[in-house]
Amino acid sequence: MLLEVQDLKKHFPVRGGGLVRAVDGVSFAVDAGQTFALVGESGCGKTTIARLLLLLEKPTGGAIRFDGQDVLRLNRQGVQGYRRQVQAVFQDPSSSLNPRLKVRMLLAEPLLAHGFGGDRAALQHRLLELLEIVGLPPGALELYPHEFSGGQRQRIAVARALALQPKLIVLDEPTSALDVSIRAQIVNLLSDIQRSFGLAYVVIAHDLALVEHFSSAVGVMYLGAMAESGPSDAVFGAPRHPYTQALLGSAPRPDPDHQPAEGLIVGEIGSALAPPSGCRFHPRCPHAMPVCAQQAPAMLAMGGRDAGLAHLAACHLLGGGQATASAARWHEVATMP
Ligand SMILES: Nc1ncnc2c1ncn2[C@@H]1O[C@H](COP(=O)(O)OP(=O)(O)OP(=O)(O)O)[C@@H](O)[C@H]1O
Ligand SMILES: [Mg+2]
Repeated sequence: MLLEVQDLKKHFPVRGGGLVRAVDGVSFAVDAGQTFALVGESGCGKTTIARLLLLLEKPTGGAIRFDGQDVLRLNRQGVQGYRRQVQAVFQDPSSSLNPRLKVRMLLAEPLLAHGFGGDRAALQHRLLELLEIVGLPPGALELYPHEFSGGQRQRIAVARALALQPKLIVLDEPTSALDVSIRAQIVNLLSDIQRSFGLAYVVIAHDLALVEHFSSAVGVMYLGAMAESGPSDAVFGAPRHPYTQALLGSAPRPDPDHQPAEGLIVGEIGSALAPPSGCRFHPRCPHAMPVCAQQAPAMLAMGGRDAGLAHLAACHLLGGGQATASAARWHEVATMP
């Protein structure tokens, strides 16, 4: 595994007391060259995980291992090496790219900051190579970010992320700020780049149709916790957690033959400041049982493994904990076609 995240937590103290449990015990792993997608409603903790992975926040607890190394215990030099190998692309390239710098400087900056060894000609060669990879013409070097369209600006952000030949790019809603018509272009670009360079992605996205086609594995978050995770085929093809079922049911599907059986999600997402007891989804869950309010469900393997990655879900209906055989049978009946 390239990246292993274990029981990761980030609690923000709030003024007037209390803690926002933005991320509250999340685990997942990402193989080299693969795409892991994080999905879930607004406020469930996705960006906080991205910021933890990028070392922009210090976790409250848990572990991050990258290439077998404990990222949270790296020395200065180790952190610099990690920052070289783990890059980021954010939602809005207009705010992530310094508007006062020409593309030449935007792309040269990470190279120079990490001690690019070559001379002027080698640097120029590398800058042109980066532009070519993301499908921009050489003339782009002399322009400022505002002189490009949104899609082109995101291409510049991708080129900048690629400059140091990272092993992993964390993409937080990389297409959400773009016109629908150009989203597919950026997704295709990211797929091509992944194939060419064997890059791994952790991608945060609201667009489930995009996630389904773009990612090899997916993690479904609910209020700071992982509800379900596993190979995309398994999670999208046979979602086991009622939240995943509801989430998939509420998203428009491009394939009319693949209409989900489950209904829409009702009610408001709870507060990360005072998450519901037991299973955080229980106040909105159509299948909630008494135990769901009392005990947090464990992440259980759903059986069947794909490429070594287990399909996991945390739900009392699926067995384990206090869930009874009758509850499991009841679930079978409840989910019959
Ligand atoms: N610096 C902070 N201080 C206090 N609370 C924070 C901070 N950053 C995030 N939060 C809270 O943590 C929770 C998770 O936020 P986060 O931005 O990670 O969610 P998200 O899943 O990325 O949402 P969205 O889909 O809207 O981008 C939210 O309740 C948010 O208000
Ligand atoms: Mg976010």
